Amino acid sequence: MAGRTVVSFLVLVIAALLVPTLTANPLVDSRPFLSNSETSLTLLYQNNFNLSDSASHVSAILLDPLPQSQAASACAALSETLISESTIRAHRADFLRQFSYLAYSGRSSSVQSYHINGGVVVTTGNFNNLAFKPNIARFSRLPVLCTQSTQVAFANATASASNQISVASQGNTFVGFRNKKSFRFQGIPYADTPKRWQYSALYSPRGQTIQATSYGPQCAQGGGGSEDCLSLNIQTPYIPKSGSRKNLKPVLFWIHGGGFTGGTGADPLSDGGDLASREDIVVVTINYRLSTLGFLAIPGTSIKGNYGIQDQITALEWTIKNIAQFGGDPKKITISGESAGAGSVRTLLGSPKAIGKFQGAIAMSSLGGGVTLGLSGDYGTTYSTYYSIPQSYAVAGQNIFQAAGCTQNTLDEQISCLETVPALDLIRLSSVARYVVQDGTYVNTAQLIVSKKNASTAHIPVIFGVARDDGASFSTYPKTPVTTEVEGIQAALGISASYAQSIIDSGLFPYYDTGNVTFDSFNVSQRVATDKTFRCIDQATVYAGSKSGAFQSAYYYQMERSYGGYDPNNLGGPPITPGYPNGNPNLPYFRLHGSDMPWLFGTLSTLRDANDLYSIQLTAGYFAEYVRSRQPNPKQSYLRARGYTTTLNAIERTGPWLPVKGAEGPIKLFDYPSYSSSFIDVPQCAFLNYSVSYYLEGGR
Ligand SMILES: *[C@@H]1O[C@H](CO)[C@@H](O)[C@H](O)[C@H]1NC(C)=O
Ligand SMILES: *[C@@H]1O[C@H](CO)[C@@H](O)[C@H](O)[C@H]1NC(C)=O
Ligand SMILES: *[C@@H]1O[C@H](CO)[C@@H](O)[C@H](O)[C@H]1NC(C)=O
Ligand SMILES: *[C@@H]1O[C@H](CO)[C@@H](O)[C@H](O)[C@H]1NC(C)=O
Ligand SMILES: *[C@@H]1O[C@H](CO)[C@@H](O)[C@H](O)[C@H]1NC(C)=O
Ligand SMILES: *[C@@H]1O[C@H](CO)[C@@H](O)[C@H](O)[C@H]1NC(C)=O
Repeated sequence: MAGRTVVSFLVLVIAALLVPTLTANPLVDSRPFLSNSETSLTLLYQNNFNLSDSASHVSAILLDPLPQSQAASACAALSETLISESTIRAHRADFLRQFSYLAYSGRSSSVQSYHINGGVVVTTGNFNNLAFKPNIARFSRLPVLCTQSTQVAFANATASASNQISVASQGNTFVGFRNKKSFRFQGIPYADTPKRWQYSALYSPRGQTIQATSYGPQCAQGGGGSEDCLSLNIQTPYIPKSGSRKNLKPVLFWIHGGGFTGGTGADPLSDGGDLASREDIVVVTINYRLSTLGFLAIPGTSIKGNYGIQDQITALEWTIKNIAQFGGDPKKITISGESAGAGSVRTLLGSPKAIGKFQGAIAMSSLGGGVTLGLSGDYGTTYSTYYSIPQSYAVAGQNIFQAAGCTQNTLDEQISCLETVPALDLIRLSSVARYVVQDGTYVNTAQLIVSKKNASTAHIPVIFGVARDDGASFSTYPKTPVTTEVEGIQAALGISASYAQSIIDSGLFPYYDTGNVTFDSFNVSQRVATDKTFRCIDQATVYAGSKSGAFQSAYYYQMERSYGGYDPNNLGGPPITPGYPNGNPNLPYFRLHGSDMPWLFGTLSTLRDANDLYSIQLTAGYFAEYVRSRQPNPKQSYLRARGYTTTLNAIERTGPWLPVKGAEGPIKLFDYPSYSSSFIDVPQCAFLNYSVSYYLEGGR
């Protein structure tokens, strides 16, 4: 890590002019790479989220104004050259849109000249044409357009001598790199190596050069990983000039899912490179401690649990302190996550240590339950109704000591024993801790309080929503065919015949007959599962929170189109039909848990039809606008400036996504285009003892 001297490109430029042999200067690395000490860097790429289309687009790097005499050397310091007229002409539509967005966002004039190879390019006021003027403006300081030659467009891009960039922040230097679409800093340690069952503390070394060019290890989990895992990743379209706070972009702070026992911020499905580039925001993805290492809580000791949650807050603190140097606005942070990541968002919305550290929150498929369901407890309950420390210990405490063979006489001895168990052995035991607990510090209520407006809940606008069939991932498709619906529901939900019968008798979950009893009763069951574990709690949360004023406002969605996801039953996607080699999304299929992530991040590589792409553009556009302005409807002027016509058309056709106002919602059904609806399955939720107004009635 040590020993690399970072030089600014301008120093290099001057050095190149004055010093004949660069390498003779011991302070100058023989392999120069760029820093932001003399200019901001903006990566221009007209990103349509069509991942197979990247070969037909080019990117460019925009630098701050310089006289022409210095422009070529400035690009050379990036291992690039001034962009040529022919490149711009060959990608004229892309450049026009990039220029129009620069003007829209106040970064240029509408009639603006840029230094390019051998002259300047000038925009016309209405961005329908470009003028090329060779050999003029030699002495004007104009923004500079360099080529961008790194061609790898995806999360698997790697750093090379020619694409690295260093950024200084808080006394350290971070070496990242760029791919075709954004600048990337991977594996930044945000905390010191955590001590087992102690809270994490912000990374403390100073004067370090941190090689942020490859992901840090994932936190210890079934598939491997490390106890020393507290790192984060940044994707950004923009790096301000060192020390400048100009043009900072809002930040999406992503907390991965995985049941509090798995997952990583390096998941390619949640890679922020495309979202950052298309929507001009900064994306941060984090790791946090998992399983027994992140969540063990033992009554009467200093081991109070919630280490994973506290790590998330440490990562937020790192982000607030450092993100401006990476182009992010520390006062515009939206926390977001899916599944256990959404459970984390829900927890942070009520955490006294987290409130104030973020301004927006997106909870995708947050789990809940917690009602007397005639069911033997609900898997989702503990994600939103928090155990006390003794309750957590009763479920995941003594049995962990047993499984580890730590059965000494005193608790102190048992804990000392458990502390010596290697991390991967510990998390692979038959019993693990994975519950958020009421520890009195990070979490001090049994549930997020949405029934009234008080200081226990972050008073901000929020987004909650579900995938239409989230519960299909949490129901069991019968191993052997069944012959009756009762039998099918029993098997899928693991409930008694009489309770299965009462579901049928309610008439609320009609049987949809395709002639396949096993399949059709599974379909009924997964609707019950979706309601009881996802839909009812999430609708109840936004209804109560907006009615009581606990939330400043609340938006709710349901994914009607999605791809892949968590599929333990091997249900697969829609059938293949002629013209649809990747499946025909117009035919029935389950919208599974986790299948929504590409609709936020634009990471779907297998498009089934054009509407997949357009719905991703539209949906990611809602989320990104919310990150920017705390409401999800992009301005028409923004969409026009960027040339995002499919999104513009959809919004013109079906209207804005409105906040929840009452028992009718409204909510938005995400597809292409999206449609407005009222809350879904309201009577079903009442039947399941989880009415839409559950939280207003004080819960149960
Ligand atoms: C990188 O990812 C892309 C998109 O998933 C894939 O097509 C490509 O083969 C990958 N490249 C490498 C070197 O793994
Ligand atoms: C709802 O709660 C009532 C009262 O506790 C109970 O009798 C009923 O079985 C519950 N309904 C369901 C669907 O679990
Ligand atoms: C908020 O209201 C809840 C429920 O009435 C109460 O327990 C809590 O103490 C209140 N919190 C604050 C910070 O006022
Ligand atoms: C019922 O549907 C399932 C899932 O598609 C399939 O595996 C099974 O073969 C079908 N059974 C019959 C009798 O068609
Ligand atoms: C499940 O049933 C609903 C009707 O309740 C139907 O619209 C949907 O297409 C079915 N899902 C599948 C995957 O067949
Ligand atoms: C995505 O890009 C590919 C390659 O350029 C193109 O063939 C395809 O039509 C595009 N898909 C859509 C929906 O625009």
